[in-house]
Amino acid sequence: MLNFAHRGFSGKYPENTMLAFQKALESGADGIELDVQLTRDNRLVIIHDERVDRTTDGTGFVRDFTLSDIQQLNAAGTYADTLPPVSIPTFREYCHWVKQTDLLTNIELKNGVYDYPGIEAEVWQVLQEFQLQDQVIISSFNHASILRMKQLAPQLTYGLLTESWLINPGKYTRDLGVACYHPLYGSLTDDTVAEIKRQGIRINTFTVNDEEAVRKLLQQGIDCVITNYPDMVRRIIQGG
Ligand code: G3P
Ligand code: MG
Repeated sequence: MLNFAHRGFSGKYPENTMLAFQKALESGADGIELDVQLTRDNRLVIIHDERVDRTTDGTGFVRDFTLSDIQQLNAAGTYADTLPPVSIPTFREYCHWVKQTDLLTNIELKNGVYDYPGIEAEVWQVLQEFQLQDQVIISSFNHASILRMKQLAPQLTYGLLTESWLINPGKYTRDLGVACYHPLYGSLTDDTVAEIKRQGIRINTFTVNDEEAVRKLLQQGIDCVITNYPDMVRRIIQGG
C-alpha cells in the first residue's frame, strides 16, 4: 500500500507548503497529494481553498490575485506564531523540487467549485517541461475536467475523486476510461472494494488519519492511502 501525504505532512506543518512537502519526504511518504489553482495571470499555485483566508494572512479569491501579489502572503496559517513566514508555492517550484526525489505526486485540480478555464493545459505544459509524466496521478472532483485533460494527455494516470457513495463506482470509473478511483475511505465496504477491483481499478483513498482505519485498509488491499500523518502510515505499513 502506498502512503501519500495529504497537502504534504499537513498534520504537523502548514498545508501545501514546501516545508510540508519536505517533511513528508523525510517522514517516509511515497508521494505527495497537493491542490492546484490558477491566479489571475494564469499561473499555477498550490493551495486548497478557493479563497486565501483560512491558510494565509490575506483575504480574497485565489483567482483575483496576480502571482506576485499572492506570493507576498504568509501561508504559515495556524503556525504563523511559531514558524518563519512561508509563501504559497508555485507548481513549477514544486516540480523542480520533486524532480530531485523519488516521490510520486497526486495533483488534484482544485476545480470542483470554480472551473478554472485552461487549468488542464497549464498542468500538462509544466509536467512536460519537467518530464514528470510517469510520476503523477491527476485527480479532481470535476470529472468533466478529468475527461478534458485525458484528451490532451491520454498517457497520464487519472483518478476520479468522490465525496459521496456511488452505485458501482468501479464500473463508473472504468466506463470513463480512468485507472483510479479516489473515494472517502468511509465508503469502502468489502463489497464496494470487491466491485471496484473486479473492474481492474486502483483505489487511492482519503483522508485517513486514524490508525485502525489504516490497518483495515491495508488488510482490504487498498492501493494507496492519502493521510495528514505519513509518519504514522509508514510505521503501520512496516508492521508497527
Ligand atoms: O485528493 C484527496 C483530497 O485532498 C480531496 O479532498 O478537500 O482535501 O482536497 P480535499
Ligand atoms: Mg486535495
